[in-house]
Amino acid sequence: MLKGLFRTKPVERILAESEASGSLKKSLSAVDLTALGVGAIIGTGIFVLVGVGASLKAGPAITLSFVFAGLACVFSALCYAEFASMLPIAGSAYTYAYATVGELIAWIIGWDLILEYIIGSSAVAVGWSGYLFKFLQGFNIHIPPWLATDAWSYSHFLQTNLGGQQVIPPEIMGIPIIFNLPAMLVVLALSAILYIGIRESARFNANVVVIKLAVVLFVIIAGLFWVKPENWTPYFPYGVKGVFVGAAYIFFAYIGFDAVSTTAEEAKNPQRDLPIGIIASLAICTVLYILVCMVITGLVPYDQINHHAPISAAFGDVGITWAAMIISIGAIAGLTSVLLVLLLSQPRIFFAMSRDRLLPAWFSNIHPKFGTPSNATVLTGLTVMLMAGLTPIEVLAEMANIGTLFAFSLVCLAVIILRRRAPELKRSFRVPWVPLLPILGIVCNLTMMAGLQPQTWARLLGWLLLGLVIYIIYGARHSKLNADQA
Ligand code: ALA
Repeated sequence: MLKGLFRTKPVERILAESEASGSLKKSLSAVDLTALGVGAIIGTGIFVLVGVGASLKAGPAITLSFVFAGLACVFSALCYAEFASMLPIAGSAYTYAYATVGELIAWIIGWDLILEYIIGSSAVAVGWSGYLFKFLQGFNIHIPPWLATDAWSYSHFLQTNLGGQQVIPPEIMGIPIIFNLPAMLVVLALSAILYIGIRESARFNANVVVIKLAVVLFVIIAGLFWVKPENWTPYFPYGVKGVFVGAAYIFFAYIGFDAVSTTAEEAKNPQRDLPIGIIASLAICTVLYILVCMVITGLVPYDQINHHAPISAAFGDVGITWAAMIISIGAIAGLTSVLLVLLLSQPRIFFAMSRDRLLPAWFSNIHPKFGTPSNATVLTGLTVMLMAGLTPIEVLAEMANIGTLFAFSLVCLAVIILRRRAPELKRSFRVPWVPLLPILGIVCNLTMMAGLQPQTWARLLGWLLLGLVIYIIYGARHSKLNADQA
């Protein structure tokens, strides 16, 4: 068994297997892929987390945090693009690791990506629910607060959203019933769309992306008229270190460009279009984020920036209340498309891991009519519903960040390894200046990981350990590669 852990799966074999096994429907173009990327990127990070990031972690220098995190993502994105152009296979970083560093590390990455996609989706669903709550309040529609948050955030939620008004939740056998119903329902609805088919999902996504981009541009252009440059002083209230701590927190805003690579088997011309989709979507979002940050920190003194709906609140603070409503609509649309792409990515990782028999075959069944990985989609949807219904957003966002940063670092490393091990392989996109750029990617990612809380590190280690146990009990024994090479 031990030998098997470091066996790699030859790239030619990966390509052949994917052709032979039941393939997914190929329907996505370069524009679809870029829209999927933007759809996955602009969401909770810029609409929600930027509030805490600016007021408690970096001050007005949160703009530089976004520059730093964006730059780090460019390095990782180039590495993803090289792999995606070479191995256009569902499964993303997991598959790349299988081809380079061996089965054990591949399994660990796949397991770790669950943090990015399942935990990340849960965080977005919670952010979505918060914006819906605020939006409906504007129409005097009030969801009972015990039905709109998790038990840990409940009292804080009452204070910020209802001005401290007390509402007693119902109890069953002495246990108060508090859960986030809107977050659960949105996950249910989107999972149903994904179950039916990716072409339909991509079309839905493209419409939502247009609304979201319009609102972000509105924030930038309208905000410019009200910016007061004096709000940018002091620029570094938390010191230069704050820039990096802020970057570790708002890194969540960039998660998602890599999701493009998980749809590789559904792209019409993956070798050319995946690098375009990954890099174009990241570049568009980075520029928009930097401008939005300059506007928000210019509208309101950093220590008064709202934590829950910072962008709409900033417009409210300078007296443009009508804008707050428009922004809420954009946020709800934006978060919906992020959720859709994240929910779409996880089943495709399960699909790839199960095709290699590191997970049972049940995970890679393809729906006979819809051509989608239906079991994995249902499992993902149910898990995200549970997490989103019961967990605070800060915990979820930090966990998603650490898991993703870890996976990105391994992808950067894998590019360097594969260039040495198989220099002759056809790469229609190549990262320039290897190994310098991948090494810079790893250093930036580790810098951000160092800025996360010790509890987050402990949870990551616990999760990886659990993964290791499952691998030993199941994956190592059933692995198709080990069976074939034994
Ligand atoms: N980048 C995505 C967001 O900010 C995950 O919601």
